[in-house]
Amino acid sequence: MKKHNHLIDLGDYPVEIWNRIVTSAQLIMKNPHVYKGACTGKIMATLFYEPSTRTQMSFQSAMLRLGGGIIGFDNPETSSISKGENLGDTTKTISGYSDLVVMRHYLEGAAKAAALTADCPIVNAGDGGHLHPTQTLTDLLTLIEEKGRLSNLKIGICGDLKNGRTVHSLVRAVSQYEDNSFVFISSPELQMPDYIARTVDYRKTHTIEEAIPDLDVLYMTRIQRERFPKDSEGKKEYERQKNIYSLNADKLKVAKQDLIIMHPLPRVDEIAVEVDSDPRAVYFRQANYGMYVRMALILTILNDDIDMKPQSLSGEATAECPNLKCVTNYEESLKRSFAEGKCEYCEEKIDKYTQ
Ligand code: NCD
Repeated sequence: MKKHNHLIDLGDYPVEIWNRIVTSAQLIMKNPHVYKGACTGKIMATLFYEPSTRTQMSFQSAMLRLGGGIIGFDNPETSSISKGENLGDTTKTISGYSDLVVMRHYLEGAAKAAALTADCPIVNAGDGGHLHPTQTLTDLLTLIEEKGRLSNLKIGICGDLKNGRTVHSLVRAVSQYEDNSFVFISSPELQMPDYIARTVDYRKTHTIEEAIPDLDVLYMTRIQRERFPKDSEGKKEYERQKNIYSLNADKLKVAKQDLIIMHPLPRVDEIAVEVDSDPRAVYFRQANYGMYVRMALILTILNDDIDMKPQSLSGEATAECPNLKCVTNYEESLKRSFAEGKCEYCEEKIDKYTQ
């Protein structure tokens, strides 16, 4: 079987490849015209089962700037999914029409599921509240450009740490560089999940004010309304959570002069608009870096032989994954698989008696 350069979790690629993508994005930023025809004749499909502005358009713009073409949908209701087609059949078919498929889905583990049968590389552009590796490449480029380094950083991460896929991928990646530490700023209900937190150096707090004076980076996130239950309890819980954190000029008075404020965007009201004019606010530049890093990623995926982890299943399963947002609980054709105590799609911890 042909090996494809799927990107499901950044950990699928060695750290040298992340560094190479970031360096290559810097070169592209300096001389974009040099790369104009680098993907002539190539086609990228963007399959967005969930809303997106930056991720989808920066990928599309990246491919167009490289001279390639784009196909895809951002409303699955206009595709055969509305006729009941399963995820595997849709992605396998489209992977035959494309050189690269960029996919966002509301279910955790969906990109992994697609990669198991696809005939071209699959890029995870967000799988539910699980991971978002290409946002993290954007964030690594932002750190290099705005702080000049990827190590020796104290990073505060604030907001919905439970459901925010960007911060899951970010924490995992940044902890691979030396001397970085984290302050997780969240309400008790929206804390960083254990499958991410357990491998990193962090402390927890409930307020921005307590954490901010020592930070080199403050990474704000919105409360992920779409991940709350749709019933009236879920709506009430969202209302309780949504205004807990709000960064404003007053809170920034005690922060370091060389702090940078990042946000994957979209913002709701967790950063006051008055902060936008503070030189420490880098989030709109961050969104722009996303396009260059995706140009570099597309080139790497299409041209390089990456020494990466294969997207296969190594485990066995006799029971259902206990995570109700796991793709295996919706796509009947998928083989369930648990290995090393967790679901191989969504990473939910599995009780040893379930396996
Ligand atoms: C993020 C996402 O979709 O996870 N947005 C993005 O890709 N830049 C963050 C969010 O929606 O809150």
